[in-house]
Amino acid sequence: MAKSPVKTIASTAVRGAPAINIGISEKDRAAIAQGLSRLLADTYTLYLTTHNFHWNVTGPMFNTLHVMFMAQYTELWNAVDPVAERIRSLGHPAPGSYAQFSKLATVPDAPVTPPKAMEMVRILVQGHEAVARTARELFPMADKASDEPTADLLTQRMTVHEQTAWMLRSLLEE
Ligand SMILES: [Fe+2]
Repeated sequence: MAKSPVKTIASTAVRGAPAINIGISEKDRAAIAQGLSRLLADTYTLYLTTHNFHWNVTGPMFNTLHVMFMAQYTELWNAVDPVAERIRSLGHPAPGSYAQFSKLATVPDAPVTPPKAMEMVRILVQGHEAVARTARELFPMADKASDEPTADLLTQRMTVHEQTAWMLRSLLEE
């Protein structure tokens, strides 16, 4: 049977994806994607530390902290996906390995020996504040490039990290 002419046109006219053309320059997309990669690495590292502390917390505050850390690591786990997918929307690969995350993260890895409960809380306060700083550092660039979706995402992440830092900090105050 002869090929239909419509099929022939369709198979030759569409070759590869068109270049990204969303109104943000290639240079700005690359710089924002790099900043978001740091935010992804920090968020993932803080997620893992919080889950680690959920497993290893001990002492009279066990139940409170075990449950609180679960709510926090669940929130962080859900947060990594929109950050990674924004990087993809800007046309760049999302980092997703421990090797890449350890190079990109400003948040330190969890200590090998589980710390005392209140030391865990102190580490998490510093972690949430560090992620807030990473998000804040990127904000002016996203704003300048009229990248509203990234600016919106950063605003949401800063709100959560600053609120969580306050809640954790309150446990350490008399
Ligand atoms: Fe659990």
